[in-house]
Amino acid sequence: MSLTLPAPTPGGLAADTTDTGAAAMDLAAFAGHAARRLRTDDTELYDLLTREADRQRDTLMMVAASSVADPSVLACGGTALGNLTAEGFPGARYHAGCDIADDIERLAIERAKSAFGAQAAIVQPHSGSSANLSVLTALMEPGDTLLGLDLDCGGHLTHGSPASLTGRYFNAVGYRVTDDGLLDYEQVRELARAHRPKVIVCGASAYPRTIDFSRFREIADEVGAYLLADISHIAGLVAAGLHPSPIDHAHAVTTSTYKQLYGPRGGLILLGREANAPGPHRGTLAATLRRSVFPATQGTPDLTSVAAKARALGFVAGPSFAALAQRLADDARAIAERLQQHGMRLVTGGTDTHMVLVDLRGTHLTGDVAEAALESCGIVVNRNRVPGDTTPVRVTSGLRIGTNSLAARGMGPDQAAACADLLARVMAATSVAPDGAAVLDPTVRTAVRAEVAELCARYPLPGYRY
Ligand SMILES: Cc1ncc(COP(=O)(O)O)c(C=O)c1O
Repeated sequence: MSLTLPAPTPGGLAADTTDTGAAAMDLAAFAGHAARRLRTDDTELYDLLTREADRQRDTLMMVAASSVADPSVLACGGTALGNLTAEGFPGARYHAGCDIADDIERLAIERAKSAFGAQAAIVQPHSGSSANLSVLTALMEPGDTLLGLDLDCGGHLTHGSPASLTGRYFNAVGYRVTDDGLLDYEQVRELARAHRPKVIVCGASAYPRTIDFSRFREIADEVGAYLLADISHIAGLVAAGLHPSPIDHAHAVTTSTYKQLYGPRGGLILLGREANAPGPHRGTLAATLRRSVFPATQGTPDLTSVAAKARALGFVAGPSFAALAQRLADDARAIAERLQQHGMRLVTGGTDTHMVLVDLRGTHLTGDVAEAALESCGIVVNRNRVPGDTTPVRVTSGLRIGTNSLAARGMGPDQAAACADLLARVMAATSVAPDGAAVLDPTVRTAVRAEVAELCARYPLPGYRY
């Protein structure tokens, strides 16, 4: 039996498959319906999800690697787009039915390019870590040398830590910060000359100061290395022009999307002036990195995440993002100054970003104890190693504090300083039990919890009241 296809319409055959004449689905009603189904059909899970939403609403989230996405960003995750399997890239998929997904992914790509002044953007990485893996495996062979910032100096696991594939498959050499906690560009140069790395990674998980990407590029050029700039923590400041951009200095730029871009779980790879330069094998650098995401290190993309990235990047380009980015930097400075007034020592003595790193060495506290005491009051931070730290990663001698969520709540420097006062109050009232547990004066806990609740109510998560 032969099949007769209708003549193509001006919109093309694929367009016909969605043009059924039925009314468009009401996605807002669908989201409510979906949540009600969850509530009736799976109360155990529904309760857990509700508790998490309440926890976020009622706590001061000051984990530097976190932020709060607008509900419209989260809404993308609850759409039928998640049902679609779409291996490949827009216009070159391995499955039918992807025309709309192509448009969504193209929208995300265009918004990413315009947010960062990039020539090319890859929006499929499932995370910042997978973006880094894709770039590193595209540019290096197993055993090649990688030069990245040591973990205890603020580098990320994927910058060559032995705990990550990047430290096991590559010959990872680490550079360190100075005694003041600052990047030591001369040391990077010396190590680069001595070890001739294929890739130099700059960017950090725990570094509160401006990074000079052009100096890193000079060093990379001197030794013929590729430069990867991982801006996961500072992507919002970069997009807002409040931190110098690496886009035309690095061969590739990576970022997570859920931190300072206020987006979904996921990552981006961005390329500037080198996008169309030849890659290490065949094709351009951009084509090489695209192949290294799919099929080399990932399978099908999570298109709901791609859609959510498009939505978040729309905010980044929007009229209020610059003010948000300015606020988060101002808030961090206010916290740094206030903590120093309380006698705390900060790595590098301050901050240029959203991040403040407290060095607890010489105090009665370790990072784990301070973190636990603060959490019991509704203040969420994370213990973090500081340069030269000899304590185990689960203990640490530092605290990392970030302002992405405070700024999103609309808190300015005065409120950020008030948060720093709360931190200092809790830490001063905390002691350590013989088993290492945090012991906090209960009257302080009660008083601070009340102040946290009051601040959270006065500065609600944006868009979470409905
Ligand atoms: C500098 C840096 N790169 C990459 C990552 C990893 O991001 P993801 O959690 O999306 O894998 C992080 C995580 O915090 C980071 O700090």
